[in-house]
Amino acid sequence: MKKLLSIVALSLLVFSLVYGVAALSAEAAGKKVGVAMPTQSSQRWIADGKNMKEKLEALGYVVDLQYADDDVQAQVSQLENMITNGAECLVIASIDSNALINVLAQAKSRGIPVIAYDRLLMDTDAVSYYATFDNKGIGTVIGKYVEEKTGLKDGKGPFNIEFFAGSPDDNNAHMLNAGMFEVLQPYLDSGKLVCVSKQTDFNTICTLRWSQETAQQRMENLLSGNYGTGKDVDIVISPFDGISYGIAAALEGAGYKVGTKWPLITGQDAELMAAKNIISGKQTQTIFKDTRILAEKCVTMVQAVLEGSKPEINDTTTYNNNVIVVPSYLCTPISVDKDNLVEQLVGSGYYTKAELE
Ligand code: GAL
Repeated sequence: MKKLLSIVALSLLVFSLVYGVAALSAEAAGKKVGVAMPTQSSQRWIADGKNMKEKLEALGYVVDLQYADDDVQAQVSQLENMITNGAECLVIASIDSNALINVLAQAKSRGIPVIAYDRLLMDTDAVSYYATFDNKGIGTVIGKYVEEKTGLKDGKGPFNIEFFAGSPDDNNAHMLNAGMFEVLQPYLDSGKLVCVSKQTDFNTICTLRWSQETAQQRMENLLSGNYGTGKDVDIVISPFDGISYGIAAALEGAGYKVGTKWPLITGQDAELMAAKNIISGKQTQTIFKDTRILAEKCVTMVQAVLEGSKPEINDTTTYNNNVIVVPSYLCTPISVDKDNLVEQLVGSGYYTKAELE
């Protein structure tokens, strides 16, 4: 009897799985989705693209995945081609969303829905949904990490600090910066944080295209112009692991050594190299943005616009792109340092233990 029951249960399970998959495939069957990613120069976007492609293909969509090597015009052309080739939905992580306004209007006039991936598409009404992480929240997390780790919160200081921000054409860079300064500005005001270079303005501290080389150059200039002869930098705010690598290289060049007067360096993306640098002490912290979850949320948005289902949304107020407020799903960022790195990155299956060695 028991055996019979389990056979019936198993058959029901198999039936529902097969039926479920068949139903999804029928809706998706062969519909073309264009996925435009900014660059392959950082590991995260490679993972983002791969995750999106795999998840969409598993549902029966045909995916055209393109990377634009951080070349704004190349991304415009890729999107034009996707439209010409019959894409029924576009998923876009923009390089400079201002350059996309016309091609997005073109998509809209043809009834092709657009989903913004990680980076908001600004100044357009041609975007249906936005899947991202809580970008201002990331800045707050970075600020609070510094506040706690250095003891600023308990009255310690003064500490010398320098600031780096992300790309000025990326809305995320502005939001992160705002969240971070909200936490740290009071310490600058009270003198517990001292920005020796006095460079705190976004336009001065930003890093076009989040470039590692640009960041390294700026850090070299900061060090040679403001530090040395007994004056060391204690904290460097970095909004992206790639920028942190540039900062670390400049510090090494100026004679700083891990373990002696090496400063606290933040980051974002939990790239494999950053994780290794955190283990070795070259970087202090990063923000883990689980791109698997982001892709999963984005896929539900594609299904919503193509199949008429309802995606999960948890923010309908924050992401005003100057034309509309874009309904968004904000994933939760996690601060990672050497104390929780293995638990977060290996425990979640993001990396294997072997990859970190
Ligand atoms: C931002 C993103 C960051 C980082 C950066 C550079 O838009 O929010 O997580 O990836 O781009 O690629």
